[in-house]
Amino acid sequence: MLLKKVLLISRRGKKRMPKVLVTGGCGFLGSHICELFRKKSWEVVAFDNLTKDEFKRNDYMKPEARNHNRKLLEGMGVRVVQGDIRNQSELFEHCRDVDYICHTAAQPTMTMSWENPELDFSINVIGTFNCLEAARKFNIPIVSCNSVHCYGPDKINSELREFDFNCPDCDYGLSRYVKDPVSINEEEPLLQGTVTPLHASKMAAENYVRCYIDTFKVKAASFRLTGIYGPNQFGGEDHGWVANFAIRNILGMPLSIFGTGKQLRDVLYASDVANAFWCFYEKQIPGIYNIGGGEKTMISLIECIKLIEKITNRKSNIIYGEGRFGDLKYYVSDISKAKEKLGWEPKTLPEEGIRNLVEWIKRNEELFVRQDNI
Ligand SMILES: NC(=O)c1ccc[n+]([C@@H]2O[C@H](COP(=O)([O-])OP(=O)(O)OC[C@H]3O[C@@H](n4cnc5c(N)ncnc54)[C@H](O)[C@@H]3O)[C@@H](O)[C@H]2O)c1
Repeated sequence: MLLKKVLLISRRGKKRMPKVLVTGGCGFLGSHICELFRKKSWEVVAFDNLTKDEFKRNDYMKPEARNHNRKLLEGMGVRVVQGDIRNQSELFEHCRDVDYICHTAAQPTMTMSWENPELDFSINVIGTFNCLEAARKFNIPIVSCNSVHCYGPDKINSELREFDFNCPDCDYGLSRYVKDPVSINEEEPLLQGTVTPLHASKMAAENYVRCYIDTFKVKAASFRLTGIYGPNQFGGEDHGWVANFAIRNILGMPLSIFGTGKQLRDVLYASDVANAFWCFYEKQIPGIYNIGGGEKTMISLIECIKLIEKITNRKSNIIYGEGRFGDLKYYVSDISKAKEKLGWEPKTLPEEGIRNLVEWIKRNEELFVRQDNI
């Protein structure tokens, strides 16, 4: 890796490399942020408790999968610290000489939030509070992750109609959900309709971000992230649907669509999200930002499956199930605020991004399919 020298003056007046602490650095998004900052010659610490909760739920995942991102990061010179954001003193110990906190550690799944609301609360609310306290105490800019689920399903779902079109990746017509206006900005009313524990914990965390901006003048941001995909994503039915579809297609395993398959998202490639974290560091304009692919990357579930089939040249075995409780059927981000204030915009279109994801899965096929599934 080509490292450019970028030196800062330390609090003791010595020249040193700038340093970022990435909570959840061994997770999917965190690993891409670590990689980007290493490429920019930063010292990088991935602070992660390496939980196996999600990995255990995906029955096609081998135990070694959990170590994949860790090994990758260590190979590029990232220091991996096994620590828990709920432990404030442990977290503070690693934040003293840090220039930026990228907070991606989370309990990110809707299903686990119903099953264990206390776990969800402790990681997403107390953990985020601790990260903000570290930012306040040591005067560090910080970005925290929310999700577009914060808008809630009811209002957006009630505005949808169906649109029939000729799909370029298959030889027949398809239908997807659409709405006017197409994209949704940060002023959209929040928590419309069903509130699950995940909605509650993610919004509580974002309210603390706003509170630390307003009350303590912390240079903080909350990114409302759309569906993200890319290499290093061990996606399953609960979280990471693009990777889940691609992994199951490649392994020849059935995949489930909950609902009609017409649900639509402005999917966003992971390195584009990592770049949003970089842009925030450069501009440091506090606030709440929609971070999504926008209108250029919108794709329905069924279109995404067709695109994967075109890339792998293999049909998927699709099983349709009931729509899931609390599901947002449509989301396309209006990203004009992030463009204007942070100078950020996504670059990767779904076809290119999904090709990269498929290549990564094929290179790492031994990490999927447990012995007992063969
Ligand atoms: N992936 C998506 O499509 C998506 C969409 C919207 C929002 N987000 C948000 O982006 C963030 C990152 O998501 P991801 O997909 O990379 O998730 P991920 O599950 O791949 O990574 C999260 C990482 O956090 C670590 N972690 C969990 N609890 C921890 C704790 N208590 N202390 C320290 N580390 C802990 C896990 O070990 C894991 O490595 C989350 O806040 C998530 O809600 C993700």
